[in-house]
Amino acid sequence: QKRVRIRHFQKAKQDGLKIVGLTSYDFLSAQVFDSAGIDFLLVGDSAGNTVFGYDTTLPVTVDELIPLTRAVARAAKRALVVADMPFGSYEVNAREALHTAIRFMKETGAHAVKMEGGERTAEQIRRVVEAGIPVMGHVGYTPQSEHGLGGHVIQGRGEAGAEQLLRDARAVEEAGAFAVVLEMVPSESAKLVTEALSIPTLSVGAGPHCDGQLLVWSDWAGMTSGRIPKFVKQYAQLARTLEAAAVAFREDVASGAYPAPEHEYE
Ligand code: KIV
Ligand code: NA
Repeated sequence: QKRVRIRHFQKAKQDGLKIVGLTSYDFLSAQVFDSAGIDFLLVGDSAGNTVFGYDTTLPVTVDELIPLTRAVARAAKRALVVADMPFGSYEVNAREALHTAIRFMKETGAHAVKMEGGERTAEQIRRVVEAGIPVMGHVGYTPQSEHGLGGHVIQGRGEAGAEQLLRDARAVEEAGAFAVVLEMVPSESAKLVTEALSIPTLSVGAGPHCDGQLLVWSDWAGMTSGRIPKFVKQYAQLARTLEAAAVAFREDVASGAYPAPEHEYE
């Protein structure tokens, strides 16, 4: 099967075909999602929560994300791999953004990078795109600015909110991004943006009108403990399955049921 490229994102929007993405942070999950036909794999800075156990994504560093991204890129034969640029690696100026993007491209095998922010990040996006590196934008709720936004708050609400969301999404498009994530915004605002833009919109809790859908894999597969956002549909209960397997293993070892003769070498 042929590699998904940014032109396929454009074509999907034109043809009305939905784009599907999941996050991934390691080789094994990336292999599974890639062979299932997931179009793109985002090595999100959500790794801060899912891999490293931080409370927010703020402490995540480029050095932490690079080995994870490399593992995902090695596994993905078809999926387009997107490296998420963490907080503090691109905000200062376009030059800093380009340095970070180049590190991801040289050191990981990713095919694109992602940056949060609309109007405020347009300069950075433009500079990175000019260097030949595809950029995925990310507007609406942007977790790296959680404290500035006053917590985990839905964005793009009301007329003013929808207008700001549209301005941000347009800025991302004009800066040359090939797609834009809309996170946690009302479906109607996401619809407005999706119709106004020529690049595909990717929903994370932005409703059915977007050109694609993206979820954090550990939420989607029931691997996350604790509260799951309302927009997530859980397609499996992996934490429960794994826990049951671990309990069964513990019990089998205690009882002597494992290892059985078929597991022994002569
Ligand atoms: O880090 C992440 O997983 C993300 C997506 C939820 C958009 O940025
Ligand atoms: Na992220």
